[in-house]
Amino acid sequence: MTSSDMDYLTIALPKGKLFGLSADLLAKVGYTAENLSEKSRKLIISNEKEKIRFIITKTADLPTYVEYGAADIGVIGKDVLLEEGKDVYELLDLKFGYCRMMVAVPKALKREKLSDYAHLRVATKFPHIAERFFRSQGIQVEFIKLNGSIELAPMVGLAELIVDIVETGRTLKENNLEEIAQIVPATARLIANRVSFKMKFDRINKLVEDLKSVMAEEAAQ
Ligand code: PRP
Repeated sequence: MTSSDMDYLTIALPKGKLFGLSADLLAKVGYTAENLSEKSRKLIISNEKEKIRFIITKTADLPTYVEYGAADIGVIGKDVLLEEGKDVYELLDLKFGYCRMMVAVPKALKREKLSDYAHLRVATKFPHIAERFFRSQGIQVEFIKLNGSIELAPMVGLAELIVDIVETGRTLKENNLEEIAQIVPATARLIANRVSFKMKFDRINKLVEDLKSVMAEEAAQ
């Protein structure tokens, strides 16, 4: 870590649903920067005065940036943390971005129990989580890794089942899919690189305490 790296706190934010909520919460404890926007084409946005550097990453890649210390801390969903399995500290449950990982099937293909789907195909963006779940149930299935719009797969015969996240349930409903098993709930988490957490302990710890205070105030309202 160079002395310049030591002066700055580098924060990774994911593109997508968690970006705005993460940026808003961090701004409440003084961690913001001019032009910090998901729409910006700039991938590094700095606040020189406060010595903060934001980097904007693809969601699935965020834990990798933090694990390798390219970012000191970051905000990411527990679903992605479970899938990526990176070696990072999980510092705080930020209590937003509620969703759940589940198994769903087209209503027309619904069977009586989960084991009735043995040997069929499961499309998912989360193959590790899906594999662990089906193994824990003792059900053998085939996994097809996709990168998005997972709900499409069973509608066009690419797979019979999907493992994906549900937030409002709207995507399932609009595509005639039904949830048949819950795997795990998830929320946004603040994570830290292990070395950064030790080297920049005072700064990161204060940020965590300030976030806890803001969250407690908001919960009490
Ligand atoms: C996620 C998820 C579902 C949808 C669920 O997709 O994969 O498709 O959101 O949200 P809902 O229950 O509120 O409808 P995302 O929008 O992240 O895009 P993707 O399908 O390209 O992964």
